[in-house]
Amino acid sequence: MICKSIYFMIIFIFISVCTAYDRKKAREYAKNYCKNPNKEKYPIFDADCTNFASQVLKNGGILQNDDWYCIKGSCSWWETCKEYNGFRFKKSWTVVDDLYNYLIKSKIARECSPKDLKPGDLIQYKKSGWFFDDWYHTTIVVEQNPTNPKLVYHSSNKCDSNHSFVKDKSDGFRAICIIK
Ligand SMILES: *[C@@H]1O[C@H](CO)[C@@H](O)[C@H](O)[C@H]1NC(C)=O
Repeated sequence: MICKSIYFMIIFIFISVCTAYDRKKAREYAKNYCKNPNKEKYPIFDADCTNFASQVLKNGGILQNDDWYCIKGSCSWWETCKEYNGFRFKKSWTVVDDLYNYLIKSKIARECSPKDLKPGDLIQYKKSGWFFDDWYHTTIVVEQNPTNPKLVYHSSNKCDSNHSFVKDKSDGFRAICIIK
C-alpha cells in the first residue's frame, strides 16, 4: 500500500510538472518573434495578432488539439477547418473572440485582474459598436506590472508596447490569466 501511494504520488507530480505552462518559454517566443514572424512554422495573416498569441501559448506548452491548432496541410473533407497559404487551422487559433472562448471553456485560462497578469498571459481589447462589441486585438504580456504590463503583439508588430497605450485606443479590455 505504501509503495502504491508513493507510486501514485510520483505519477501525480510527474504529470503536474509536465503540463505546467512554461511562462519563460512563452515569453522568450513572444520576444523572439514579435518583430519578425516565425514564417517557417506558421502562416502570417494581415490581422496576425491572435495567430501570434496562439503560437506563444503553444510554445509555452499548451497542447494543440482538434479544437485549437494550426499546422501545415489542407483540411480533410470531414473537418470544419480553415486553410491559408498551405496551413490548416481552427478559428480558435486566429480569431480574437474564438480564442477567448476556447481558453475559458477548456479551463486553460480565466479572466483576471491586470495586476495578476504574468509573462505569457494575454490581454484582449475591444471597440464598441452599435450592436456588438468588436474584440479586435490580442496582445501578450511580457512583463508584469500592477497597472501597466509591458506587451508585445502582431499586426503592427510591436516588441515594446504597453497596456496603457493600447487601452487608450480601445473601448475596453479583458485580462486573461493562463491557469494550466
Ligand atoms: C507606453 O507606450 C507608449 C507608446 O509606445 C509610450 O509612449 C509610453 O511611454 C509607454 N509607457 C510606459 C509607462 O512605458
